[in-house]
Amino acid sequence: MRILVLGGGGREHAIVTALARSAHAPEIFCSPGNGGTAALATNVAISGDDPAFIADWAERNSIDLVVVGPEGPLVVGVVNLLEAAGIPAFGPLAAGAHLEGSKAYAKDFMERNAIPTGRYLAVDSNEEAVGFLGDLGVPAVVKADGLAAGKGVTVAMTLPDALGAVRESLDGMFGPAGALVVIEEFLEGPECSLLTFTDGETVRPMLTAQDHKRALDGDAGPNTGGMGVYAPVPAVTPAERDAMVGILEQTVAGLRSEGIVYKGVLYGGFILTADGPKVLEYNARFGDPETQVLLPLLETDLLDAMLAVVEGRLAEVDLTWRDASAVSVVLASGGYPGTYETGKVITGIEDAERVEGVTVYHAGTTRDPDGTVRTAGGRVLDVTAVAPTFAEARSRAYEAVSRISFEGMHFRTDIGARALAAGEGV
Ligand code: GLY
Repeated sequence: MRILVLGGGGREHAIVTALARSAHAPEIFCSPGNGGTAALATNVAISGDDPAFIADWAERNSIDLVVVGPEGPLVVGVVNLLEAAGIPAFGPLAAGAHLEGSKAYAKDFMERNAIPTGRYLAVDSNEEAVGFLGDLGVPAVVKADGLAAGKGVTVAMTLPDALGAVRESLDGMFGPAGALVVIEEFLEGPECSLLTFTDGETVRPMLTAQDHKRALDGDAGPNTGGMGVYAPVPAVTPAERDAMVGILEQTVAGLRSEGIVYKGVLYGGFILTADGPKVLEYNARFGDPETQVLLPLLETDLLDAMLAVVEGRLAEVDLTWRDASAVSVVLASGGYPGTYETGKVITGIEDAERVEGVTVYHAGTTRDPDGTVRTAGGRVLDVTAVAPTFAEARSRAYEAVSRISFEGMHFRTDIGARALAAGEGV
């Protein structure tokens, strides 16, 4: 079986790693891939997010399954074109991916389907924003409607900040993605991600995970794509988990009732409020870096699960998980999430992987012909450790981190620290 994985981050390295250990022994291609996927797959360069190029390449190269990592190609309909060409693809059609591609659509969908979420209004003028914010108050969350590479979200503590964020977005700071702005109630509580496999009918939840989005220790500094993550989240109660699963089942059923058979991964970003979990956002794909802790804990053959999703027979598959914890620490380039340099030589990866239970996923690297690995992105490596307990996984991850270095490397030292301090999962 020949599989093409689209994407080139830590998520895709984790997907390629899990597919490479499948009993089906697939031949894997990854576009564009990175220095880590190069060891397990053939990296190929297919033109960006262009769905027509991707479908054409897959057809010419006799690909049996395309696995779509990032949201960009999903939103522009790569799965639609692949399906039309008769090539099975893992990921939703554009109509399903719209849940991630338009925050206003997602909020309207939640409202129509009575799915718990914060109050909101989508606005395209400063006047509407003034009226709604006067009623909602602060803190408030201001989001560009469309995909803005993780940059279109402001948590505003004052009314002038909120109005300023609306104005910047409407003035074109995020291009067309910000021409419509969603203003939302700020929800209080811990964040929790719950990802599910779904074939549009059956929903199979993964483990809970908690991402750390801010750049610096203590949740300080600017937002990033994610600086570290752990799974499962010890603090989540069975009742909270059941509620999140119920909401994702309700989401899939709601989509179906609106004519959308959603296949792939549906990612619920939740806030665990005092009134129960509420949806902060949906993503139409595996999370990054959540995938780097979820897939190492998945016992089920990932390819079996993906094929069952694509073929609409997920009811036949029960997911099984290791009775263990995983912690992943992101090593980033100096300056990230702002500007940063690339091409720095990375040392110590092999030494880090000698720590029991550790895998180093490459997020932004290249590999020279002589094997030298260099930085090539903002997030560079995801150092992931699996262990019987959360405390041990965390300690292994940081032991492995201490063995890696590159010029300018920075990382958070407190991934999972709050849970540990609370005595959870020890
Ligand atoms: N971890 C957040 C995301 O994947 O968007």
